[in-house]
Amino acid sequence: MSDRAPTDPVAKALALDGDPDRIRDYYRDWAQSYDSDVGEEGYRAPDIIATLARAIQLSWFDAARTDLRIMDAGCGTGLGGVALQRAGFTHVDGFDIAPEMVDAARATQAYERLLPDIDLNAADPGLADLSGCYDMVTCAGVFTLGHVEPQGLDHLVDLARDGGFVIVSTREDYLKQSDYRDYSGKLEARGSVELVHALPDARYVGDDRADYWVYRKAA
Ligand SMILES: C[S@@+](CC[C@H](N)C(=O)[O-])C[C@H]1O[C@@H](n2cnc3c(N)ncnc32)[C@H](O)[C@@H]1O
Repeated sequence: MSDRAPTDPVAKALALDGDPDRIRDYYRDWAQSYDSDVGEEGYRAPDIIATLARAIQLSWFDAARTDLRIMDAGCGTGLGGVALQRAGFTHVDGFDIAPEMVDAARATQAYERLLPDIDLNAADPGLADLSGCYDMVTCAGVFTLGHVEPQGLDHLVDLARDGGFVIVSTREDYLKQSDYRDYSGKLEARGSVELVHALPDARYVGDDRADYWVYRKAA
């Protein structure tokens, strides 16, 4: 369990209460120094998720990495897109609630299409046009305290095509304090997804740990 000072940028982000205005304001101010701040702490989630995406492509797809479409949900400054690009994926889109984070993601040139102002806590985040469009949906660092409720998983599953994959990180204290595990289990029980792989208690950022979940959407 992490023991962060209340002034630590990661600790402050965890106290945003899922309030869309506070999240936007906070990440507007953090956008410029985000990469160096989390980089100094050895933030691994985007690389772990890109590595899982590569393993999934090798394990379950006939198509080449360059033929797959990926949506990076809550893309932030684009660390996930860059990691996916390094892993050989060339068709990556992204969205985030914070426009300044999306501006930074655009500068990486790792994305084809980027959407700002998408709130995963909204009943309708405005992604209907992209429903069923993606071979994989990746989401690093977003299912964390103060950010997105477990119900946000529904929107990610909706973006995946039938038989496509959703890869998500969940920070350890989020797993303890939210009903993510129950919600994920309900989606499985309903037959919407199958949990095909998981990395429990893995590295995340600094000494903080996370679980990584790989779901396959029902065909
Ligand atoms: C810790 S950052 C992770 C960014 C990026 N995925 C990464 O791994 O570096 C969390 C991101 O989630 C976004 N976010 C927070 N709440 C959100 C929401 N309700 N809907 C969409 N994005 C949200 C923030 O704007 C921020 O860019």
